[in-house]
Amino acid sequence: MHDALIEARDLGRSYHNGREQISVLRGLSLELRRGEAVAVIGPSGSGKSTLLNLLNGLLAPDAGLLRVFGRAHSELDDNAWAELRRTRIATLFQDGNLIPTLTVTRNIAFRAGLAGLQRHDGEALLERLGIADTAQRYPDQLSGGQRQRAALACAFVMQPQLMLADEPTGSLDYATAQRVAPLFFEAIRERGLGALIVTHNPELAQRCDRILELREGALHPWDSAASS
Ligand SMILES: Nc1ncnc2c1ncn2[C@@H]1O[C@H](COP(=O)(O)OP(=O)(O)O)[C@@H](O)[C@H]1O
Ligand SMILES: [Mg+2]
Repeated sequence: MHDALIEARDLGRSYHNGREQISVLRGLSLELRRGEAVAVIGPSGSGKSTLLNLLNGLLAPDAGLLRVFGRAHSELDDNAWAELRRTRIATLFQDGNLIPTLTVTRNIAFRAGLAGLQRHDGEALLERLGIADTAQRYPDQLSGGQRQRAALACAFVMQPQLMLADEPTGSLDYATAQRVAPLFFEAIRERGLGALIVTHNPELAQRCDRILELREGALHPWDSAASS
């Protein structure tokens, strides 16, 4: 037994645009253990979102080995991935993941229900994130920052074991990001989640156990001295 949530070896992924093939990830390796938080940084277009979507099964790798919760990618069919996304892997997408026809409260109840939970701590989460007053509103009645926080609440309420976050504070203004980043992080630590967090927010990145840089298709330990 070992406690790796994610093991990736020499992962590769390309996109095809007509005749053109763009190789985005090549030779990417990563290990993420239970309770470990890793920040991923890298310029726009370097493949950060592609990587997260390989790890939640929305995209398939075209080379390499991937194991999630000890199960090889080759053993996981669409149903198995869907089950993992309902119950164990939360993904915070860059543009939020709220259902537009449901209020915040209903979005939260829906996510908890998908995960098979009878009870949830959504109300307390909204309180903590400073958006308790938005509970009865629809997503289009929220500011960008409120929407992103509501999406955070939805991700935590399903009690995941692995949190994949794509710029979770990206659409927040500076002051709100400074307030939300520690709360986001505390919730990850408190629940002992493994987390892979794509972020440009130093407040978040510096709280992680490691910072990796996605460059030329692969992950490299980030050398802050070399970048400053
Ligand atoms: N569905 C797609 N079809 C073709 N190219 C894509 C697709 N998705 C992403 N790309 C390209 O792959 C590269 C990496 O994209 P992405 O993973 O979104 O990067 P990041 O999240 O780091 O900005 C970019 O050059 C982007 O244009
Ligand atoms: Mg992206």
